[in-house]
Amino acid sequence: MTARFQAPKGTYDLLPPRSALFLAVVQALTTRLARAGYEHVQTPIFEDTALFERGVGESTDVVQKEMYTFTDRGGRSLTLRPEGTAGVMRAVIEHHLLDGALPVKLWYTGPNFRYEQPQSGRYRQHTQVGAEAVGLDDPLLDAELIAVADAGFRDLGLSDYVVKLASLGCGQCRPPYREALTSFLAGLDLDAATRERARLNPLRVLDDKRPEVKAQVAEAPVMLDALCESCAEHFAVVRRALDSFGVHYEIDRFLVRGLDYYTRTTFEFVHNRLGAQASIGGGGRYDGLIAELGGPSASGVGFGLGVDRIMLACEAEGLTPYQDSRVDVFGVGLSAAARERLAEIVDHLRRREMRADLSYGDRGLKGAMRGADRSGAQYALVLGDRDIEAGVAQVKDLQDGTQEQVRIDEVVEYLANRLGAPPRRISGGA
Ligand code: HAM
Repeated sequence: MTARFQAPKGTYDLLPPRSALFLAVVQALTTRLARAGYEHVQTPIFEDTALFERGVGESTDVVQKEMYTFTDRGGRSLTLRPEGTAGVMRAVIEHHLLDGALPVKLWYTGPNFRYEQPQSGRYRQHTQVGAEAVGLDDPLLDAELIAVADAGFRDLGLSDYVVKLASLGCGQCRPPYREALTSFLAGLDLDAATRERARLNPLRVLDDKRPEVKAQVAEAPVMLDALCESCAEHFAVVRRALDSFGVHYEIDRFLVRGLDYYTRTTFEFVHNRLGAQASIGGGGRYDGLIAELGGPSASGVGFGLGVDRIMLACEAEGLTPYQDSRVDVFGVGLSAAARERLAEIVDHLRRREMRADLSYGDRGLKGAMRGADRSGAQYALVLGDRDIEAGVAQVKDLQDGTQEQVRIDEVVEYLANRLGAPPRRISGGA
């Protein structure tokens, strides 16, 4: 027997009807971004490995353990993108977008790849909707992005989540804070691996989920108490703006993000029903990233929203933010000639912007009616040879079971009226 294949570990196929939820999530989030002046950008799915090493940060789990890196036939080291920001910044720099009007506001969507231990909500390929506002350090942009994501989530019907907010300070106030934290951590009873983590990035230890570590760091100094005046004011503006937009948030003194480039504002959207992988999106400001990648000294702020987890969140809240019927009208032909005639009528219905399909192949009345039921259509359009002779079709309302006989040359108009389809155009339409 020939061996069958399965999707690689940590990946999954998106099949109907779940695929409709995927599209609805992307649509809801990107509609809100477009309304706030963000424009679409697409960058390659693979980039030079060094871009992520420098951009995401050598000390992060993502770079140390999770990248899909390969050498191409030309001997280049390339990596499937683990996240979107580094590639978008590379494009912003390469195409001198910061020489134009500021801020540059961009959104993107697509798959990202991380070699993580798969579990519910954590995959080796995941999709994000991301956005970046680059070139200005205006805290109103930080608030705008948080509000846009929040509005997108609400449009989907989500409500059981919290917005967690913090500030990581800047090049002025973070180094002395980091020193204070390092000496605090040096006095704790930590295992060797955690000590090494503390050496590379002491902030990450604050994010440790193990109770024995959690208990020890409970009294650790926190960045929010050590912000310099300018960072404190920056953070205050973000909070005032969110208050004025009516976006609820919680200040999280221990909020730590997994990527190295953040400064000042950081935030995360955490859903209450997703268990361990509950972050449905996160982001923040990055002051040094663009210069680190060879660009000008410019600041940016952005987010990445995890589409896979947002889908799980919609399911956990019992939401179906998409049409679950495939079509409005389904043609049931009782002979080959009737199906041919129906194919023509269905084509006219589609031209009039109605959603229509028909039963293909010779499946008999029962099989064809089952197809109509499965399609979720409101109307079945039933046609037999005798109907064609008489110039009529039977329109069956599948919801209340009533049936009406309508002249074939009037049936498109009849269904358009019933379904509230847009009026016929003067040219081009059927
Ligand atoms: P991130 O927090 O690494 O940030 O990822 C953003 C979101 O992607 C997470 O909150 C989560 O919903 C989703 N996600 C991440 N990894 C996985 C995974 N393995 N499986 C399923 N979902 C996942 C970034 O990637 C930054 N680029 C965000 C950003 C943009 N910051 C500034 N600009």
